[in-house]
Amino acid sequence: MDLGSIIQFLEDKTILVTGSTGFVAKMLVEKILRIQPNVKKLFLLLRDTDTKSAAQRLNDEVMETELFRVLREKYGANFSSLISEKVLPISGDISCEHLGIKDFDLRKKMWREIDIIVNSAATTKFDERYDVALSINVFGVLHTLNFAKNCANIKMLLHVSTAFVCGERAGLILEKPFYMGETLNGATGLDIDTEKKLAEKRLNDHLVEETTEKAITLAMKDLGIQRARLYGWPNTYVFTKAMGEMLLMHLKENLPVVIIRPTVISSTYKEPFPGWLEGLRTIDSFFVLYGKGKLTTTIYNPKSIIDIIPGDMMVNSIIMAIVVHANESSKIIYHVGSSVRNPIRHANLEDFISRYFTRNPWIDRNGKPIKVGKLIVLSTMTSFRLYMAIRYKIPLKVLQFLNIALCKSLESTCFNLNQKFNSMIRLVELYKSYLFFEGIFDDTNTERLRVAAKGNNIEADVLYFDPMCIDWEDYFMNIHLPGIVKCLF
Ligand SMILES: NC(=O)c1ccc[n+]([C@@H]2O[C@H](COP(=O)([O-])OP(=O)(O)OC[C@H]3O[C@@H](n4cnc5c(N)ncnc54)[C@H](OP(=O)(O)O)[C@@H]3O)[C@@H](O)[C@H]2O)c1
Repeated sequence: MDLGSIIQFLEDKTILVTGSTGFVAKMLVEKILRIQPNVKKLFLLLRDTDTKSAAQRLNDEVMETELFRVLREKYGANFSSLISEKVLPISGDISCEHLGIKDFDLRKKMWREIDIIVNSAATTKFDERYDVALSINVFGVLHTLNFAKNCANIKMLLHVSTAFVCGERAGLILEKPFYMGETLNGATGLDIDTEKKLAEKRLNDHLVEETTEKAITLAMKDLGIQRARLYGWPNTYVFTKAMGEMLLMHLKENLPVVIIRPTVISSTYKEPFPGWLEGLRTIDSFFVLYGKGKLTTTIYNPKSIIDIIPGDMMVNSIIMAIVVHANESSKIIYHVGSSVRNPIRHANLEDFISRYFTRNPWIDRNGKPIKVGKLIVLSTMTSFRLYMAIRYKIPLKVLQFLNIALCKSLESTCFNLNQKFNSMIRLVELYKSYLFFEGIFDDTNTERLRVAAKGNNIEADVLYFDPMCIDWEDYFMNIHLPGIVKCLF
């Protein structure tokens, strides 16, 4: 397959993208418009009350962002007309039937015209409320699948999942689909409809009890974590993403479906420019806290591999997968990451951030550079528990004793310390599987896709997604960490 035919494939195609205000979908939309402005139409699904406000969100949160700078410069005065001709914001919600698109005529038009659907919408909070996570990450996938089945000319439904649907598995993790009801710990009885009824019942019970919204949220979050752990997943996010995959593969019939499972997506490597990212994502928040001098102790296994893939590579793999598998009725899973071909370890990251923030110190509110020191690393959960006991639990006990002796005058200090202790425990419990992760993601299928792209040096020039070419030190020191700092300012 040559470059002409890949880019040509997108010509005159109509593509529906969900999650289009999100990090991944934005990069995809930008790339498609940049390499194939003769795409017929991009329907972008956005959560909003009506088309007018969806259009406003599209403008403010997508087109006006720095990501589109290169495209804006390329088209100059014609940028707005390119967007209004090619992009149609659609007000909708994947947790509703028909994706929440109320206008029947618009739905019929979409069913007639759509060639490809990319489902990138999701809730990505690890401890999302169970009812919410089920409605988006599980039933949202079902609604997208049903919508795709109504499209007369559909050539592909590409679903963006996550590599971490594998849970806490160690060793080589294969690009294998789940079967319906599969669990990670061998527990039996996982049934998606039962999970839905359970979440609805719990929610109803709480509403009847008339507890506060905050209490309901906490209870529904706890329910998600409990159900995930019951079946062997570490958190609600990856558990519901796994169930979404199950539904999709089980009910797809003859529809061409591809599941892309990215690992941790980081800032762009090269295009549209290096270092674009949005918001602080999981590991980035730790880097920032360290730069600001607020993180001195951390917890992870320094030898563990942390699998990262730059956003532009991830998006290129989506485009390749669409083109290669359009009209094919197979079940294809792609791991898009770096752990097999170009691994990077926690210890490397520690070294990069320490050198970066020593050379480029964060400037505090008073204009003074913040000095960073060597991180104290707790490399096991046992050392973490010991640390928490010495740093919080024992002082708390002493404070509680003094509080009684001093007629409750230390009540709020005790309360605050206890809150801090509980929230740190909750946070580490939530992330611990990733801090000590021992898996690496097999990418045999993805490697085949790269080989398909390699004719005529396409991969190197336009649709590159081989992590082998990344020099991690250069990427972190000169692209990703400066990208984070720039994004925050
Ligand atoms: N970022 C990563 O490192 C990473 C890694 C692995 C996998 N992934 C997967 O990649 C996909 C995209 O992730 P992302 O990083 O782009 O996430 P993101 O930035 O959080 O964006 C999520 C998008 O989904 C939309 N959305 C949520 N619920 C929706 C609903 N009910 N109906 C319609 N749209 C809804 C959000 O819209 P609003 O703006 O209205 O909230 C937002 O546009 C997800 O499937 C995620 O699981 C991401």
